[in-house]
Amino acid sequence: MTETAATVWIPADRLRAEVARLLTAAGLTEADARTVAESMVEASLRGVDSHGVAALGTYLRRLRAGATNPRPQVRIVRSGPAYILVDGDNGLGAIAGTFAMERAIAGCRQTGIFLALCMNNTTLGAAFYYARMAALHGLVGITLSNAPPSMAPWGGRRPLLGTNPLSVAVPRREGEPIILDMATSAAAKSKIYLAREKGTPIPEGWALDPEGRPTTDPEKALKGLLMPLGGPKGYGLSLCIDLLTGALSGGGCMDKVASLHHGLDRGQNVSFLLAAIDPEHFAGQDRFLAEVEEVVAKVHGCPPAAGSPGVFLPGELEARTRQERLERGIPIPAKVAAEIRQEAAAFGMEVDWT
Ligand SMILES: NC(=O)c1ccc[n+]([C@@H]2O[C@H](COP(=O)([O-])OP(=O)(O)OC[C@H]3O[C@@H](n4cnc5c(N)ncnc54)[C@H](O)[C@@H]3O)[C@@H](O)[C@H]2O)c1
Repeated sequence: MTETAATVWIPADRLRAEVARLLTAAGLTEADARTVAESMVEASLRGVDSHGVAALGTYLRRLRAGATNPRPQVRIVRSGPAYILVDGDNGLGAIAGTFAMERAIAGCRQTGIFLALCMNNTTLGAAFYYARMAALHGLVGITLSNAPPSMAPWGGRRPLLGTNPLSVAVPRREGEPIILDMATSAAAKSKIYLAREKGTPIPEGWALDPEGRPTTDPEKALKGLLMPLGGPKGYGLSLCIDLLTGALSGGGCMDKVASLHHGLDRGQNVSFLLAAIDPEHFAGQDRFLAEVEEVVAKVHGCPPAAGSPGVFLPGELEARTRQERLERGIPIPAKVAAEIRQEAAAFGMEVDWT
């Protein structure tokens, strides 16, 4: 995130209350507003700024346009001993996501593994949030989600696949879990927006222009296509995530998922898969956690390669940012505050973030 003099730093607790207040004004119940605010502030705490409080302006715009349902009746459509299928009723994804993961966490204690498929949602934001919920209970958590098309199948030039994110969270004996949390594109779209703002080129391999040619121009990239991470392997990963979410839930895949930002005459129709696994049913909790700590020690004991700033676990740098931001507050750039202020005004709310 670029810090400027116009960035304000707001304590996480205050931001949580403020975001919940604005979402309540936009029509959410107080409980749902608190749930969504929690997920957004947690993303901001970990430095996942694009999917944190910065998304609030977009959410308020969607709620005002009727593109997202402020009062979703989240319901279990089907269930069995180790699974549920949830209809999110076109609400903000954090509402159905939190509902589903809470049930997966409780359910897997009996069955070892519990799978929750959710359909008919607005985006769930940062994928790590739900996987981490499980890990904070000593469980392994998994999140997969589909997203609107921005990548072509490998070798093609028509956008059919989303940057479909995936997260795996593994508990440790103490402290923050190990958390892999990633898009399946070579780079997140937010990084291309940032390059455009700064007027700098993007690295080769991130995007194609609208004619399907490689480009380093962020403007052309945003009109064109994102490239998958790792070539055909990232493409395959994205495709499988789409199938495991959109096809398995019945919500639908590819262009049945709509943009978060444009065409606000319809719901986004995002699907996700959330899983919780209880290690007690497999290696046993003690043995599992001992092995995890052995892996951590080996990673930390690995000598850094030439020029490397160090060797870290997935999510370790974000956990450090979280600690720093718990102490210093969360940085909100003036541009983000201005957008939220403008959207909040449409609901008759004032925002005084100074
Ligand atoms: N909801 C959606 O539709 C959607 C779509 C795409 C992405 N996202 C979210 O966007 C966010 C950003 O995704 P991204 O792919 O840009 O993430 P990223 O590239 O910043 O990080 C990806 C992973 O790499 C790890 N990592 C980075 N540097 C590391 C290092 N030096 N050592 C060890 N591990 C390291 C991170 O901890 C993280 O787990 C995520 O929260 C993701 O869930 C959401």
